[in-house]
This record gives sequence, C-alpha cells and structure tokens, in this order.
Amino acid sequence: MEFLIKSGTPEKQRTACVVVGVFEPRRLTGPADDLDKAADGYLSNLIRRGDLEGKLGQWILLHNVPNTLSDRVLLVGCGRERELGDEQYRRILAQTARTLNETGSMEAVSYLPELNVKGRDTHWKVRQALETTQDALYRFDQLKSKKDSTRRPLRKMVFCVPSRRDLGPGELAVQEGQAIARGVSLAKDLANMPGNICTPTYLADQAVELATRFPKITTSIMEEAEMKKLGMGALLSVSKGSREPAKLITMSYKGGKKSKPIVLVGKGLTFDAGGISLKSAPDMDEMKYDMCGAASVFGTLSAVAEMNLPINVIGITPCSENLPDGAANKPGDVVTTMSGQTVEILNTDAEGRLILCDSLTYAERFEPDVVIDIATLTGACVVALGSHASGLLGNHSPLVHDILNAGKHSGDRAWEMPLWEEYQEQLRSNFADMANVGGREAGTITAACFLARYTKKFHWAHLDIAGTAWRRGKEKGATGRPVPLLTQYILARVQP
Ligand code: BES
Ligand code: MN
Ligand code: ZN
Repeated sequence: MEFLIKSGTPEKQRTACVVVGVFEPRRLTGPADDLDKAADGYLSNLIRRGDLEGKLGQWILLHNVPNTLSDRVLLVGCGRERELGDEQYRRILAQTARTLNETGSMEAVSYLPELNVKGRDTHWKVRQALETTQDALYRFDQLKSKKDSTRRPLRKMVFCVPSRRDLGPGELAVQEGQAIARGVSLAKDLANMPGNICTPTYLADQAVELATRFPKITTSIMEEAEMKKLGMGALLSVSKGSREPAKLITMSYKGGKKSKPIVLVGKGLTFDAGGISLKSAPDMDEMKYDMCGAASVFGTLSAVAEMNLPINVIGITPCSENLPDGAANKPGDVVTTMSGQTVEILNTDAEGRLILCDSLTYAERFEPDVVIDIATLTGACVVALGSHASGLLGNHSPLVHDILNAGKHSGDRAWEMPLWEEYQEQLRSNFADMANVGGREAGTITAACFLARYTKKFHWAHLDIAGTAWRRGKEKGATGRPVPLLTQYILARVQP
C-alpha cells in the first residue's frame, strides 16, 4: 500500500474519499468544519438531525457532498476531544482503515493526523496512522484455497498535515512507519505460519532470504554438530526429542562504523508441545506461536535495514521444536550448558530458558553493547499482565528505562517486574547448579532469574511476550509485537 503526505483544504481534494473527524457531542473538527462551510452547512445539518453523535467507533459515509471534489466523505466519530489520547487515536484510525477498505474507496485523503492528541506531534501522529492502518488491513490468507478478497481494497492513503512546515516531519514519519509496518507484517506472517510449515529449517531459509533482500544483513546458520562442539547441551537437549534439526540463526546488520552491537535474542520454538511434561490439549495449537520472539527479531532487523540506520544490530534466534519422544528430555535429567553451569530439568515444558541460556552465552562473543532477549516464556506472564503489556526484567536500569520509554512512545508497552536476588532461591536443585523451574510462585520472575545466571557479562533485558505476541479466541492471530517497541528503542539510540 502507498502512503503520501500533503497539506491542503479538504473540499479541494479530488479523491475517492475524504476522511474527517467529528467529536462527541456533535462537534465538527477543523477540517470537517472547512468541508461544512464549503457545502453550505450540509454536514452540520446532518449532525444536528442526529445522524452522528461523534462517539468513538461511529461513522457515516456520505456521497456527493455539495461543492466538494471527492466522491465520498467519511465522517468518523472521535469521542470527546478532551479524552483523545494514544489509545483513542489508534481506535479511530483502525476503524477508518477497515471502513474505507470495505466500502469501495481504493484511495483516500485523511485529515485524522490533524486531530489534537495529548502530547503528540505531527511526526508521531503520522507514524502511528500508518502503522495502525497497515495493522488493521493485515490478512493471513496464504493457506486458504479460496480467498475472500475485498472487491475494491484500499490501495493508497494520503495523510494531511496542518501546514507546509509539517511536510518534512510527515514524510520522515511515513518512511519510518512503512519500515516498521513491514517489519510487523513479516513477524506476523512467520508467526501465523503453522508448525508443519514453519520449522527451524524454514526459519533458517527465511533468514537467508532476508539477507538477500538487504545487502547490509548477513546471515549464518549454525547446525547441531557445531552446537555440540560449542557445548550447547541445554539447547541440544530440547531438540533431541524432535525429528527437525535445531538451527541457531545469526543475522547481522552492519550499519555503523566500529560501534558495539545491540544484540537481540529471540526464542524460536516452532512448536512447543511441552515434551514429556506434555501440555493439555485445549489451545495447544497456539504453541505454534512459541517462536514469536524469533519472529520479532526478524521483523526488527527488517525495519532497521529498511531505514538504513547507522548502527550495528545482531539477531540471534535459537530454533527448535519441543515434542515428546523416546529421545526427549525426561524430568530429572541433568544437562551441561555452554557456560559450564549444570541444569536439572524438572519440567521439560520449561524449554524456552534452555534454548535461550546457551544462546545468551553465545552472545558474549559479539561484545554486545546491550543484549535484549524476547520470548514467549511463561504462562504466568499472561496471568500477571494480560495482553496489554509485555513483562520486562533486566540487570541494568538505564536499559530497562530506555525500553519502557520506547514502549510508551510506540504504543507497544512493557511493564517492569522485580529481578531480586531473593527469588533466585526458588531455582535451587539438589542435583545440579540449578533447576529449570522455580515452582508456582512468581513464574515470570524465576524464569528471568534463570536467564540472569547467563547474562552476568553484559547489560541485559528480557521481554516476556507470552501475553502480547498473539491474540486468542475468535480474532486469533499474531500481533507483530514487540517489533514497534524494539525498533523504537533502536531509533532512539540512533537519534537521542
Ligand atoms: N511457551 C510456554 C509459555 C506459554 C504458555 C506462553 C502459554 C504462552 C501461553 C513455555 O515454554 C512454557 O511452557 N512455560 C511453562 C513454564 C513452567 C513449566 C515453569 C509455563 O508457563 O507453564
Ligand atoms: Mn514450554
Ligand atoms: Zn515454550
């Protein structure tokens, strides 16, 4: 889809549809008022008669509005002006995108970025508008034999900004927004792909493909033989119960001079049945999403490369399946990790930390500036935070702060949990250096405590995305989170 920036009056737009907002109760926004004046009170009459209250989620589509050059005018309810914050703004945009797409406007000129959103500038409003529009229009229909395709889909969107001065920031926002939106959509595509297609080998192929699309990205795939040489006993113990070989993918984006890289480590369980500690049947299909951490690393690298940012970023994604099998991990097994520390596997379903710990040790060799791991690590995180915030824990508070801020800015928020020493006790084992589970209490924290034992040599943060990476129920599907957060974090590092 194509996006453009423009400034100008709404009645002069020669397009399929002009989009303007109406506040509750029955109050026209500036651009709606401009249209109304040109049309001799046509809109205000309509509103006065009660056709649109202006509540969030409401809309009406008008045809042949007098003295205007567009085929249609879409009036969108924006709620109360005083209450217009980030969340409301995004809902207005998503509603608009879906409505335009379903009512036959293949192109539109939108005045929504001219709305006043508390504390937000034009650059932010345009970027959000673009990301939200693309998010709302996303479909995964690659595997349907009959696609229910929209007859006249939205193809081109022009965002209007208040003055010519805003054109520069607006255009930059379009470039960034497109890169982020494409990253999000790549992450969604990989995540939605089922486990029988999206295997560790499939992800490795996709990583090679990413490197052919972006000359500044190089990919290398580590096979199990090499993992064995490096002593990655924890990672290999998970994959030995599967017929699909594990792959440790490293994607390196070189955009900076000699600066130390930001290293992203993404959990890539292409299916997590739990292993011998088998999960129960309900919703087990959702465990195809257990590679969403890896998918977010792909998406972020794609966004960073598309923006050509002057920084070095390395993505490491350990990829494996976790299945029950005669060769699989058994409760009580003890494995030796690449770090030399030993782990008693009390629950084979706590496999994410096993593939991550060796990958984190491996990350040391890149002399990272910071390491951020991203993982659908614990069901406990869904209980604690639901689907609105990702769990965040780390060993360096400036890094944690930067990530929290990137979350707020991008609308892809995280919430910090404590990584206190006291919790470490729960990982005590009678037979090894540590157990891989810490009991029922504070499951998200003890999982992070486990990882903390492998990240002592660098600044590190952990994002538990078990609640945010996909939507459950009728609208089941990947969200592409936390690509917006990670990309914003990197953008802020480049332009502080
Ligand atoms: N991938 C799961 C975590 C998960 C479960 C994410 C449900 C989203 C929804 C992870 O590998 C896992 O099974 N974790 C266990 C850990 C436990 C055995 C300590 C869990 O959360 O139950
Ligand atoms: Mn598991
Ligand atoms: Zn898992």
